[in-house]
Amino acid sequence: MTSPTAPTRPRRLSLLQPTGHLTLGNYLGALRPMAGQQAHADCFYGLADLHSLTVSHDPSTLRATVAEQATTLLAVGLDESTLFLQSRVPTHAQLSYLLECVATTGELGRMIQFKEKSRAGESTRASLLTYPVLMAADILLYRPEQVPVGDDQRQHLELTRDLAMRFNSAYGPVFVVPEATVPAVGARVMDLAVPTSKMSKTGSTEAGAVRLLDPPDVVRRKVARAVTDNDVGPDAVRADRAAKPGVTNLLDVLGACGGSAAGLSTYGALKRAVTDAIVAELEPVQKRYAELARDPAHVAAVFAQGAERARAVTEPVLAAATAAIGL
Ligand code: TRP
Repeated sequence: MTSPTAPTRPRRLSLLQPTGHLTLGNYLGALRPMAGQQAHADCFYGLADLHSLTVSHDPSTLRATVAEQATTLLAVGLDESTLFLQSRVPTHAQLSYLLECVATTGELGRMIQFKEKSRAGESTRASLLTYPVLMAADILLYRPEQVPVGDDQRQHLELTRDLAMRFNSAYGPVFVVPEATVPAVGARVMDLAVPTSKMSKTGSTEAGAVRLLDPPDVVRRKVARAVTDNDVGPDAVRADRAAKPGVTNLLDVLGACGGSAAGLSTYGALKRAVTDAIVAELEPVQKRYAELARDPAHVAAVFAQGAERARAVTEPVLAAATAAIGL
């Protein structure tokens, strides 16, 4: 008889980089789908605080951002996941060093994100070059078979696969080579002011991004000023990504927040419906956030427990890599 192995749920892993304030785009595109994964996967979700040190940073801003995002992860209902701060799970930095010994400066220098962030003549931190190696460590430590990543992280996932295969063939089969998958259906929310670029916590202007914690009057103001177009025809309210990117984005947001555009014929009416839908969608999250923010010790305890489990799960993988490489 074969030994009874408990049916294990697939592992899901994702880290968010704590910079800026989380937006409606992050919520609809990432956080809400992450919460949905909990029913069928063993989820590990982290804040990549070490990655936030790869560009010029302010310690107190970073601390505040980490606290806000940690509280937000709980507020959106990720309490069935293992939540952790990357810096509190030392195996991440430890494995990153071993992987630096299989990565080459040439391939790291060719990463698009490195090239973009390192231009502009400013001095570049060495950690920006090794950023994708730390990300590879984040992933390989958990042996997930699939990693959902957006387009901007695809090249890093490709590098992760390369490093895993190179390590395995040089030193022995330590790592599971993960496959990149398309993230669970989440809406792709565009900037309200520049509807051809993605709503972003760092790249968007104040007016272009609805923050997860924006109060209703701020949501109303931002949506009221959202870019539409000059079409005043009877069917002005319709989706057409190429010709009407602003209107199309508002319709997407409305749908993603459970609203309907049926019977809406003016942009004014559309914007009121979008505002109401966003406010209703965010209300329970903001309420929960306010409760949790009053109890920071609880949030800290959840993350401390998560870090402990993350350490326990990843230590054997680090140990196997350490032994294989000859230490
Ligand atoms: N680099 C990712 C981003 O900017 C964040 C990240 C770090 C990540 N480590 C990861 C994402 C591991 C997925 C898996 O979005």
